[in-house]
Amino acid sequence: MGSGAYARVAVLGRGVVPAGEPVLRGDDLGALQGDGLFETMHVRGGRPWLRDEHLARLARGAARIDLPLPPAGVLVELLEEVCAGWPVDAEGALRLVCTRGPEGGGPPSAHATLARVPAAARRARLEGISVATLPLGVAATARPALGWLPVGIKSTSYAVSAAARRWAAGHGVDDVLWVSTDGYALEGPTANVVWLAGRTLCTVPAAATGILPGVTAAWLLGHAADLGLTAEERMVTPAGLRAADGVWFTSSLRGLAPVHTLDGTRLPRPALTGAAQALLAHPR
Ligand SMILES: Cc1ncc(COP(=O)(O)O)c(C=O)c1O
Repeated sequence: MGSGAYARVAVLGRGVVPAGEPVLRGDDLGALQGDGLFETMHVRGGRPWLRDEHLARLARGAARIDLPLPPAGVLVELLEEVCAGWPVDAEGALRLVCTRGPEGGGPPSAHATLARVPAAARRARLEGISVATLPLGVAATARPALGWLPVGIKSTSYAVSAAARRWAAGHGVDDVLWVSTDGYALEGPTANVVWLAGRTLCTVPAAATGILPGVTAAWLLGHAADLGLTAEERMVTPAGLRAADGVWFTSSLRGLAPVHTLDGTRLPRPALTGAAQALLAHPR
């Protein structure tokens, strides 16, 4: 069944609308300038997983860019509307999009879309992904140090991420890992990097680097003890990743995707992948 077969849209104040129906005004700043925030959630058992964590990140981002958000209860209702009747056995990709509204003033907009999880995301979990490092042109801790630049927000302005993905496609790799001018691995365009160093599950510190604090990576590190591991935020270089005991990309839809190749170097499939994926899929 194609992803279109299940596609749904719900709009703040309107409820579920036919999927082809216009949602945003042409003068909405979200459409004109990418002035908005969004969250992507994994729907399982008919409900968005880690919904409150996603809504909390959205609220933190909104505070950083002075984006007025509808009250949390209203957003929860919108998510419930779009999920109503979704098959409990079908994985879903839910996007909640909140924009600033019409240029010159007017109410902010919010809508949610729900579709099947793309086959590529499910394939990435099983088969793993090839990744190439790509310079981002900034020092690892430069962005948060500026003070004015909103960091760690999930902005609808995805031009840089889209360019990185085009670069990946043009260079025959599945994804990229941005690297700072001082040589540290940061994140992928839509994923965090998580690695195993001995018995420690690691990820890149979000506050110090300004990367997106991933809900999936945080959940996984928070449950490292269930895998018999400790957890730690650390800086790492690509060479450090090549020497690690396992490297994964994490994101809400892909969950945990093993990185099988980094800059052409084949990495071993970490033995932990199955257990960690099972924990993500069926938390204890
Ligand atoms: C830049 C970036 N980093 C990390 C992630 C992973 O975050 P999460 O696990 O919350 O989906 C995403 C998700 O799309 C992202 O866009």
